[in-house]
Parts: sequence; structure tokens; C-alpha cells
Amino acid sequence: MSFPVTRMRRLRQNETLRGMVRENRLAREDLILPLFVVEGTGVREAIGSMPGVFRYSVDQVVVEAKRVAALGVPGVILFGIPAEKDARGSGADDSEGIVQRASRAIVDALPELCVITDVCLCEYTSHGHCGVLDGHEVDNDASVERLARTAVSHAQAGATIVAPSDMMDGRVGAIRRELDANGFENVAILSYAAKYSSAFYGPFRDAAESTPEFGDRRGYQMDPANRREALREMQLDLDEGADMLMVKPAMAYLDILADARREFSVPLAAYHVSGEYSMIKAAGERGWIDADRAMEESLISIKRAGADLILTYAAAEIAERL
Ligand code: PBG
Repeated sequence: MSFPVTRMRRLRQNETLRGMVRENRLAREDLILPLFVVEGTGVREAIGSMPGVFRYSVDQVVVEAKRVAALGVPGVILFGIPAEKDARGSGADDSEGIVQRASRAIVDALPELCVITDVCLCEYTSHGHCGVLDGHEVDNDASVERLARTAVSHAQAGATIVAPSDMMDGRVGAIRRELDANGFENVAILSYAAKYSSAFYGPFRDAAESTPEFGDRRGYQMDPANRREALREMQLDLDEGADMLMVKPAMAYLDILADARREFSVPLAAYHVSGEYSMIKAAGERGWIDADRAMEESLISIKRAGADLILTYAAAEIAERL
């Protein structure tokens, strides 16, 4: 049946009808807010390359977590910026490390909030790579051991979900084994399974001071040109025990998200990364786009492509508007 019998505009006549036939909606429950934690007290320091995003000391991150929990955001993901870094990333699995202290403080104050931790070495290594080095190469197996220890220390600090973002081979299996061996069989793994080597991480590296000292991450993160390979990465992580999968970045990789939705029944997350967020904010500041609408349109496109959960720096402002 075609025009004039069919008129697509009939169901677009007014907001009531549009609302009735709307296929996807953003909900507060979908949102996870990334938080950056630094040493000190009373710190709430703006990040120049990420308008509206701050680095918080442990006491202040609790204040912010309370604010976003009150808005109905169900989870936060923690990134630590330690005072000191070394070659092996010692701060990553230190029980008194920055993320461990932040996690304990948030769990104490807000037992209902889901605390997720990013498991990676890049914020803790002096060279800025995501694992430990052997010469100028990242040593996969030695890094996996450090990452598994890091995940256990996050679990000991009360994390509900650990999210490895390093892209080493075999890390999900090693983390699962190490968690189980330490009595944390109920701590879930959200694997950054399809994480691409992306220019869109630029502002984050500024915020987390984690730009590699030499080289880049192409030896472990995925090539942006590859699509089928993402399904292999995701299948491997599921086989190793991942509970949920993540695609990252989000907007330039909606095809990957749609593929994953078709292929797998596990919950899917997508990370609307720093560059994706800051581009919208920057264009909005210049008056070139309506940043609020562009942000919502971006996030709904991620949901439409198949994500259950969206990690976004805009989680609080979106929850406020919903
Ligand atoms: C750590 C990590 C990164 C991001 C999340 N976890 C940076 C990177 O891989 O360089 C990026 C997040 C963002 O850009 O918002 N490996």
C-alpha cells in the first residue's frame, strides 16, 4: 500500500501521537557517569578540554556521587589519577590507591549505587601504556597478571562491576579466575571488548594524564577499519566469562553495536567517549549547534543501535532533563 493510502505523516501530527509510536527512549537507568578522582581534599578542578567535567578528590567525589544518585543515575565508573606513576603501574592494585579509596568511600555513603571501576594500567604507568613493557612493546601476559590483581583490589574496595579497558589478550579469563579465587564470584565483568584505537580519546588522556610517552596504542586496541574482528573479540570475551560487553567509542561505531546486538544476548554497553562529548559541547559554546539537543540525539542513536547502557559524561545533565 502506498501514497495516497499510506501517509507516514499521519502518525507525526502531534507530540501525543509521536510519543505513542516512539520506538526508543532514554531512561535514567541506562546511564553511567564516568568520574575522575585525584589526590587531595576539597578538590573540584575543571577539565579544560571537557566542559562541565571535573576532577574530584575522594571527599568531593562522594558529594558528586550523591548528587547524581539523587538524579536517578544508577552507576558511576571510576578513573584514578595517582600522584605518582612508575613503570609497572604500582598504584593500580594498591589497596590504598586512589580508586580503591574512592570506591570504599562511595560504597560506604551510597550502598545502592553501582560502583564500576575501569581496570587498566595507563593512568598509573610512567610511560602511559596500558600494560607493562618489555623494551618498547607491551608485554601481554605480564600485563594480564597485573590487571587481574588490580581487578581483585577493586573488588576488595567494594566495586560491583570491574571493566577492563586495556585490550590485552586473555585478561577477562584471568580476571574471572582471580576474582573467583578470592571469593568475589559475584563481582561482574563488563568487558571493553571492542575498543578501537581512536582519536576521540584525546580529551580523556588530557584529563587522566595518560597520553603514551612514545608510540601509540595500535598494538593492542582495534583498527578502526575492522568490523568482523569486533565480533571475534566479543565472542572471545564471552567465552572467557564476560557478563556484559562494551563497544567504544560509540557514535563512529554504531555498526559494531548493531552487529553485537544481532549476534549476542548479553547486555551491551557503549561508551560515548570524551571526544564525542567535547565536540558537541565545543560546537554548542560557539553557537553552531544546540548542544542539549545534539547530546540527546547522539545518546538515543546509541540506544537505537542496540546499547542497553550508555557511559556518558552527560549522564547527570540528561537525567536532570528526563
Ligand atoms: C583507559 C581508558 C581510556 C578511555 C577509557 N579507559 C583511554 C585510552 O584508551 O586511551 C577513554 C575514555 C574517553 O575518551 O572518554 N585505557
